[in-house]
Amino acid sequence: MSKIAVCPGSFDPITNGHIDIIQRGAKIFDELYVVVLNNSSKHPLFTVEERVELIKSVTGHIPNVKVDSFQGLLVDYAKSIDANAIIRGLRAVSDFEYEMQGTSMNRVLDEHLETFFMMTNSQYSFLSSSIVKEVAKYKGDISSLVPPIVEEALKGKNCC
Ligand code: PNS
Repeated sequence: MSKIAVCPGSFDPITNGHIDIIQRGAKIFDELYVVVLNNSSKHPLFTVEERVELIKSVTGHIPNVKVDSFQGLLVDYAKSIDANAIIRGLRAVSDFEYEMQGTSMNRVLDEHLETFFMMTNSQYSFLSSSIVKEVAKYKGDISSLVPPIVEEALKGKNCC
């Protein structure tokens, strides 16, 4: 049985921290689906299509990574592709409470789906899409935080 994992998120936009988790996750699982889902507490800057395109262009070199989007519950998406696992990155203790709530909810919804956490590389422990957008908004240098194509996409948004 092949090991299939989902790496879900808002990816608004994808950062070098996300890419680090995706690259490492792809070494452990046979197939890794990076999926743009809706986080109802966030108001995204990029459309779902834009986020999917950005992820595709920066993960295209990883053969076992697929990129997708889904409107609905993560557990339903995972079921639709026969995934056995969810991968999430953990940056700091502050992420833990939020992740524990989501993971516990997902386990209630589907007890067979396991969630794996990977510590982000320490060089990205402070990094989030929100902080990247904030710095880009005030024309700060984000070249070490996101790939060039994402930097360009942020410049293309009126807000940044
Ligand atoms: O990058 P984020 O915003 O931390 O990702 C959170 C996300 C999108 C993975 C989460 O909100 C999610 O799974 N949304 C889909 C709806 C769902 O399944 N909700 C219940 C579990 S939290």
